[in-house]
Amino acid sequence: KVYANQDEASVDVANRIANIIKEKQAKGETAVLGLATGATPVKVYKELVRLHKEEGLSFKNVITFNLDEYYPMKPDAPQSYVTFMNKNLFDHIDVPKENINIPDGTLPEDAIHAYCEAYEQKISNLGGIDIQLLGIGRTGHIGFNEPGSAPNSGTRLVVLDDLTRRDASRDFGGKENVPTKALTMGVGTIFKAKEIVLMAWNEKKAEIVKKAVEGEISSDIPATYLQLSSSVEFILDTDAASQL
Ligand code: GLP
Repeated sequence: KVYANQDEASVDVANRIANIIKEKQAKGETAVLGLATGATPVKVYKELVRLHKEEGLSFKNVITFNLDEYYPMKPDAPQSYVTFMNKNLFDHIDVPKENINIPDGTLPEDAIHAYCEAYEQKISNLGGIDIQLLGIGRTGHIGFNEPGSAPNSGTRLVVLDDLTRRDASRDFGGKENVPTKALTMGVGTIFKAKEIVLMAWNEKKAEIVKKAVEGEISSDIPATYLQLSSSVEFILDTDAASQL
């Protein structure tokens, strides 16, 4: 779906999330949201905050799972995805703190495997993710599933691609300060979501969007795996869609 600009697109995505939350509320059920970081979803979160503050949308029945976190990473570091999510969304809404799940960048390496399995299990015990937000990295990664990721991969520790670290270097004051690893939900984890919404804005995403949507399905560009799912929607602005 191509929108004139990212503002209109983001309001639409926020409304979809709000509708899921309200439908679940009406039935006394919990809404399970899969959330992403990066510049791409910022306006969706801004609109959700507005809906909370101005239209009384409550997040009390919401449980969230973030896609990924750098490793190692302290939660209170300015570049952590915990800090990002607090600043852009969680500090401004009424989601119960115990309902927020973000991969833990402070774990010792030998605890990671069991932690990742428990992260997956927690999602499935709740009946799965109702709606999963995704951005796309210039390597074609979703979450931090870099080139080489398998379509059935689960939540795990991964090594970041050089281009991904270069793209993150501004946040860290130089590529050498960007962690070399990350924890990420797998492609298989993402695929289990009932609805998947990949958003991309601006000209600089046009090339990778074209490859993801029209290219041959390959582990070289993990976002091409999304072609295999019927629950995926690409939400683009005209610039990101300009090479389609
Ligand atoms: C990071 C995140 C991804 C995100 C990507 C794109 O690598 N782990 O989840 O999709 O960046 O970032 P941006 O939205 O800033 O372009």
